Amino acid sequence: MSKRIIIFDSTLRDGEQTPGAKLNAQEKLEIARQLARLQVDVIEAGFPISSPGDFRAVQQISRLVKGPVIAALARTVKEDIDCAWNSVRDAEKPRIHVFLAASDIHMEKKLRKDPETCLKEAVQAVKYAKSFTEDVEYSLEDATRAREDYILRVVEAVIDAGATVVNIPDTVGYAVPEEFGRLIKKIKTEVPNADKATISVHCHNDLGLAVINSLFAVQNGARQVECNVNGIGERAGNAAMEEIVLSTVIRKDQFPFETGINLKEIYRTSRMVSKLTGIPIPVNKAIIGINAFAHSSGIHQDGVLKDKRTYEIINADLIGGQAAQMILTARSGRHAVRHQLESMNYHLGDEEFENFYHRFLELADKKKEVYQEDLEALLIDISFAEPTYELEYLQTVSGTRIIPAAVVRLRKGEETFEEVSSGAGPIDAAYKAIDKITNIITRLENYNLRAVTRGMDALGEVSLKITHEDKNIIGRGVSTDIVEASVKAYLDSLNKLINMMAHVNNNNKIK
Ligand code: KIV
Ligand code: ZN
Repeated sequence: MSKRIIIFDSTLRDGEQTPGAKLNAQEKLEIARQLARLQVDVIEAGFPISSPGDFRAVQQISRLVKGPVIAALARTVKEDIDCAWNSVRDAEKPRIHVFLAASDIHMEKKLRKDPETCLKEAVQAVKYAKSFTEDVEYSLEDATRAREDYILRVVEAVIDAGATVVNIPDTVGYAVPEEFGRLIKKIKTEVPNADKATISVHCHNDLGLAVINSLFAVQNGARQVECNVNGIGERAGNAAMEEIVLSTVIRKDQFPFETGINLKEIYRTSRMVSKLTGIPIPVNKAIIGINAFAHSSGIHQDGVLKDKRTYEIINADLIGGQAAQMILTARSGRHAVRHQLESMNYHLGDEEFENFYHRFLELADKKKEVYQEDLEALLIDISFAEPTYELEYLQTVSGTRIIPAAVVRLRKGEETFEEVSSGAGPIDAAYKAIDKITNIITRLENYNLRAVTRGMDALGEVSLKITHEDKNIIGRGVSTDIVEASVKAYLDSLNKLINMMAHVNNNNKIK
């Protein structure tokens, strides 16, 4: 019988450490709910001491998301552990995850502490965390560059102190598979109390080896794998959840392990994480890239038409992907659209659906064929909107010997505001016209445009980041027209900013 491995998802903690991937509390909750539908075993919801916002996000997830264990990260200091506990104490299954460096370079250069002091701190921290909850995980940061004899001592000591999970992170993605597998085996066989805890691994992808290192660790006795949706994470990212899970499904002969993952939710989760973090999925990304099930060469197409298995080892349907999709058009009625949404596992209430259907018709008028990806892009586009300002009218001019200009009309409740502006290009002109209307001073930090769907009439998605005082806000917009997508993204970020300011301070200066 296959052995069960625990999927510990750190998308909301290490994944959120991806540069540019900041999520607000509502977005984190949305992803946590989806991770619960995906049936991960553990959700690492955040590092609560890092900010009051992260504390609140972890607390909200703990209160509202049922099913998985909810873990919060803490250093070995009392304040961190208190804070982590307070954030997860209302969870159905809370976990405190404590970490401290184990390598000489980290202890000496970063912590300026000697190994014995660190070992004592580790033990004290685990005991302290244990006074709150039974479920305590301890991570030996930078373990793969630590001395093996020290690793073995720390593992034994923290298990004696009560750690139920001991995690061996390859913090800087330095390990290679055989060597990492050997380390795990050594821990399993040489640490006398190793059978009293679950051995976990957490691999970074600096050499592109995070997934294979994790799999080798599992073959050698690790039973928890820490991984992130789409492989996002600090620097080059962490092991990709979907790659680990699918390896155990497609190559069960080599990796005879079971996970509790609901495979059909993989595609949807991946899209949601990409949309909400603003981190695009490379087209050739294994398992979930848009090209992962596309065939371009004539020989491949011929083979696939005769028998899919000639060039496909994974059926897209398995991960809830786009295999058997219905192509909708402007003539598709409500019934067909609802049916397609439900087959994708989206169940909208009547009012939500009407709103969606209206947006669908607008899109179908512009784009002849509407694919599953288009529907998903629309869903994301409408699901977080509580707009203060709505785009009513947009006209831009640009060309070789013309000064680019834009006319923008926005609606705010019953009122409409219209402004004209010139700019360095049509998008810049439109943004300046919007600034005149809203009177909000922001700085555009980054701007990304990508085609989210296929064909010449593909939907363009703009994701951008603005800053206002100390706040960073991400905005997204989708349209077949890239200027309109850019304006929607900018308005989305401004509306979020206005909402945020309204919650933070009723006397804010934003009109
Ligand atoms: O990479 C790492 O070492 C970590 C630990 C906090 C688990 O993220
Ligand atoms: Zn990490």
